[in-house]
Amino acid sequence: MRSCLSSSTTLSAILGLAVLSSARKCQNMTVEVPVDARNAVFNLSAPTSNIEVTNFVLNLAQQGNNYSSTILSGYESIKNTYQIAATYCEPDSGPSTTLQLLTHGIGFDRTYWDISINDYNYSYVERATDEYGFSTFAYDRLGIGQSQHGDAVNEIQSALEIAALYTLTTQLRNGEISGICPFDKVVHVGHSYGSIQSYSLAVLHPNVTDGLVLTGFSQASQFITDFLYGGNFVLANGVASFKDYPNGYLAAGDPSAVQTNFFAPGAFSPELLNLGYTKGQPVTIGELLTVAAETTASNPLTGPVLIITGGRDIPFCGGDCRTTGNASLPNFLDMSRPYFPKTSKFEAVVVGEAGHGLNLEYSHPYTYETILDFVTQNVGK
Ligand SMILES: *[C@@H]1O[C@H](CO)[C@@H](O)[C@H](O)[C@H]1NC(C)=O
Ligand SMILES: *[C@@H]1O[C@H](CO)[C@@H](O)[C@H](O)[C@H]1NC(C)=O
Ligand SMILES: *[C@@H]1O[C@H](CO)[C@@H](O)[C@H](O)[C@H]1NC(C)=O
Ligand SMILES: *[C@@H]1O[C@H](CO)[C@@H](O)[C@H](O)[C@H]1NC(C)=O
Ligand SMILES: *[C@@H]1O[C@H](CO)[C@@H](O)[C@H](O)[C@H]1NC(C)=O
Ligand SMILES: *[C@@H]1O[C@H](CO)[C@@H](O)[C@H](O)[C@H]1NC(C)=O
Repeated sequence: MRSCLSSSTTLSAILGLAVLSSARKCQNMTVEVPVDARNAVFNLSAPTSNIEVTNFVLNLAQQGNNYSSTILSGYESIKNTYQIAATYCEPDSGPSTTLQLLTHGIGFDRTYWDISINDYNYSYVERATDEYGFSTFAYDRLGIGQSQHGDAVNEIQSALEIAALYTLTTQLRNGEISGICPFDKVVHVGHSYGSIQSYSLAVLHPNVTDGLVLTGFSQASQFITDFLYGGNFVLANGVASFKDYPNGYLAAGDPSAVQTNFFAPGAFSPELLNLGYTKGQPVTIGELLTVAAETTASNPLTGPVLIITGGRDIPFCGGDCRTTGNASLPNFLDMSRPYFPKTSKFEAVVVGEAGHGLNLEYSHPYTYETILDFVTQNVGK
């Protein structure tokens, strides 16, 4: 059994350990992450009212108009060190040799992977550690939740966040984070925008990932407007729990907006919708302006890739993943097959009874088993 915790543990790390109802061991931490990125510079002021927020959405979602390109005035390099909040978990028996690095999507933070409701029944991390024996590392994306916040227009953008994911990955591989063993293999598991970032990481740095699990994802780009209109976005700092965020962070306007964008009819318990709304997190204007990242590029990944998405997903399938209007294309997830010419294994799974927020819906046991069996069989522990 590998045991870095006992060999390099500091007193604070020991105190940070908490044994949950199950056997796994988890530790909260803040990681210093040096980042070097090329960001876009947009000629746009952060909205300061809900009217300006809606104007922004109407401009961004307008058909036939590339709004990002209209307001792009150049690029700038950002070199900085940021604070990233994270939770590392490992099985009671010690760390696995493959780490699962979990990147959440828009509207959530790292707790998306470890939902505590119903005695952790909905927790992906609990199943991954306790049942399958994987170590997991979940973090709040740069700019969001307990991670460092920043300028919502020209700082917190896709390129900066992908650069942070790259640094985190190399720190974890090399054992540079105090209290965590080095890992031989890292599999990147994303949800939605977190899948976009995991895909993009593999495009930019193909040798730092041993496999991709892209949940709530496809490469059909035409449905993002449904999500923008469905979100009923408002200024985040007009909402009590987000008052510390600067202008240009947007939040879902009400529970119905969260339902529209994340839940399929009849596929969820209202308690989980309530969680999605009350514990939801904002999104920046800069993220929305750069949302596609590297997903138009072919992916040189040589490891395996699983894409798993709810059949009623809104942003990536327009509410129906299987009706593509193309007899040779069984579902929108399958569009990605030619984007991975070097992959050792490509699998696309449509979860029939689910919307975009897979981990919050009744079908989560099927989703988790599909992912964890895939990683076990195609990458190993
Ligand atoms: C980590 O922090 C969260 C709150 O942010 C808390 O709910 C959780 O219990 C903490 N976990 C550990 C292992 O300390
Ligand atoms: C920025 O946009 C404003 C209009 O909103 C325009 O007047 C100005 O010329 C633009 N500046 C640059 C540098 O593109
Ligand atoms: C929109 O413009 C940006 C900036 O020029 C570009 O990177 C992006 O690929 C364009 N998007 C589409 C869908 O053409
Ligand atoms: C990835 O490739 C770069 C450049 O070839 C190299 O410096 C780096 O050590 C490699 N990283 C891994 C994890 O293999
Ligand atoms: C239909 O799908 C096939 C398989 O992905 C693809 O090769 C083809 O280009 C698609 N046809 C159209 C018209 O989009
Ligand atoms: C956990 O959730 C699944 C699916 O929602 C359900 O079938 C099962 O009964 C739940 N188990 C517990 C212990 O709550």
